[in-house]
Amino acid sequence: MKVKALVERAFGREALRVKAPGARGRFGLRSTASYARNPLRWLRTLRDEYGDIVEAEMLGRKWFVVSHPDDIEKVLVKHAKVMNRDAYIHILQRTLGLGLLTSEGELWKRQRKLMAQAFTPRRIQSYAETMSAVTDRGVHWAEGSVIDLHAEMSRVTMEVVAAVLFGAGIGAEEVRVVSEAMEVVNGFYANSLEAILEVPEWVPTPRNRELSVAVKRIDAVLYDIIAERRRSGAKHDDLLGTLLAAVDDDGSAMTDQQLRDEAITLFLAGHETTALTLGYTLMLLGKYPEVEQRLKAELDSVLGGRLPTADDTRALPYTRQVLEEAMRLYPPAWTTGRESREPIELRGFTIPAGSQILTSQWVVHRDPRFFPDPEAFDPDRFEKGRAKQLPKYAYFPFGGGPRVCIGNHFAMMEAILILAIVMQRHHFELLPDQPLDLAPSVTLRPAKGVRAVVKHRPGRPRVAEAAE
Ligand code: HEM
Repeated sequence: MKVKALVERAFGREALRVKAPGARGRFGLRSTASYARNPLRWLRTLRDEYGDIVEAEMLGRKWFVVSHPDDIEKVLVKHAKVMNRDAYIHILQRTLGLGLLTSEGELWKRQRKLMAQAFTPRRIQSYAETMSAVTDRGVHWAEGSVIDLHAEMSRVTMEVVAAVLFGAGIGAEEVRVVSEAMEVVNGFYANSLEAILEVPEWVPTPRNRELSVAVKRIDAVLYDIIAERRRSGAKHDDLLGTLLAAVDDDGSAMTDQQLRDEAITLFLAGHETTALTLGYTLMLLGKYPEVEQRLKAELDSVLGGRLPTADDTRALPYTRQVLEEAMRLYPPAWTTGRESREPIELRGFTIPAGSQILTSQWVVHRDPRFFPDPEAFDPDRFEKGRAKQLPKYAYFPFGGGPRVCIGNHFAMMEAILILAIVMQRHHFELLPDQPLDLAPSVTLRPAKGVRAVVKHRPGRPRVAEAAE
């Protein structure tokens, strides 16, 4: 004990810490380079070489890569009280301000409570009709045309989220302006050096300037809609209407700035992730005809060609499993990070305060200890009963703990509805020679999209078209 105290006094607490295994190097240069080259491969190699907890120095910070479900549960749930989001939050704040995804502490707690009022099961169900109607109008590709599955799903989910958020309060032209600006925002976070190196906003690089212009365009649309709502005082049944009416325990409501931050957060967090899920699902269905056949058999027997409703989503278990399995293989959120404010212990190793803790859905979802034959697309893994045997955090596409995705059930309902409508009417023939090149940034995007030829299923018109 005395020796320990002496060592601590002479060399600091760090000298006594039980360190986790990991690649040691000068200033983390090697780790940073490996991460920059191919973060997906690097994270899996770390787990294979060093185990379930790995310590690495990167970008001047101490990182811990945590890859066992039991430890992930500890980070996200048990120790949630001493965790902040990871350092990337600061660069996201440039666009999202202090919305739910990017706030901390008391502000986050208050906002989560207010936002929860828009995500109750009853409210989510009420969005289904809009989701189905917008999708019905939005998916009409000519027979034989070549489309990029991801770009198309991104367009549809953007239209859906805009309609659910703003109802009739947003016109087609405004959706176009916001969609274009969102693409700039997505591109900035997906592959700009400015985002990776956290270059401050005031540095006048072309990407920085482009981002500022895009955010201003989105802001102009959002503030206009908010002002119009306040002016008219009319009640609206959409998501923004719920947020405008939401009040705290002390009776206070959100300011315009908070409403703007939350609306842009829902746009960004809500459309890209769902679009990726659907895009990868369509790609996988193109590669696994037997899964496509089973999916279509379920859709035909439950829906018989009509538009799906919220109630139908409970009667489509295989459709849900297909989406769940696609998110296992290609989790749109491929990492969930935290920064610990206090030291914590995991597997006997000490993780000091201020460390970045990285859990990766990409790594854990492909771990053969939990998913035998992990590269195979097998929706039966998520059959009722079978999925329950998994450790809780072996599968966590929506994160977990108090900061679990607030849009989890919204997203699953939306994805089931869109997939049901799209697959009742089409088959997609993937173009040959398209190796999937993944571009992991905030989300896991396909670097060059996925192109496919559209084939119509006979006798399945759009409902909107049938009524025209
Ligand atoms: C397949 C679709 C989606 C996936 C995979 C996904 C995934 C995630 C993940 C992993 C987190 C972080 C959780 C954590 O740090 O523990 C998150 C947070 C969040 N998501 Fe989603 N999400 C999806 C769809 C949506 C939708 C549709 C919305 C809104 C309409 C949404 C809104 C949010 C918000 C606001 C947060 C921040 C929650 C907080 O910090 O309190 N997400 N999501």
